[in-house]
Amino acid sequence: MLDPDYKLLDSQLSSLLADEPDALASAANFVGLLFIALADINWLGIYVLRGDELVLGPFQGQPACVHIPVGAGVCGVAAATGETQRIADVHEFPGHIVCDAASRSEIVVPLVVNGSLVGVLDLDSPSLDRFTADDQQGIEKLCQTFCSLQAERDRFI
Ligand code: SME
Repeated sequence: MLDPDYKLLDSQLSSLLADEPDALASAANFVGLLFIALADINWLGIYVLRGDELVLGPFQGQPACVHIPVGAGVCGVAAATGETQRIADVHEFPGHIVCDAASRSEIVVPLVVNGSLVGVLDLDSPSLDRFTADDQQGIEKLCQTFCSLQAERDRFI
């Protein structure tokens, strides 16, 4: 599989979001840019932290579950631990939450603004073991760029 040029994507993201004060619009464009840049993805979106649960935010793909408690599923574990979850086979992940039955592998990256968790970015693929360590590194860097551009906001989404 041809990986995207993550460096180029990162500079495209910075240009796309530069000077945009609205976090919701920025999040929607972040998700849209990634969805067209990455191959073999059936669902990609942001869950926003609201209290002790994650709530569905901007996404591309099938309609998905709206509320995920922190600690539940791949998203909830990423939120609870603050660590990226890169899952080669979602059927092997205890408590995996099925939103799109086509999903076989998944990566979830915590979104941290000014040191606080504000949500997670979730990507699903219909292929087993779709996400490499290089993908993880590239996607984590994109999330850092996205989050650093949110640092001036009073609130996220
Ligand atoms: N599979 C996720 C739920 C979200 S959907 O994939 C869109 C999970 O286990 O947290």
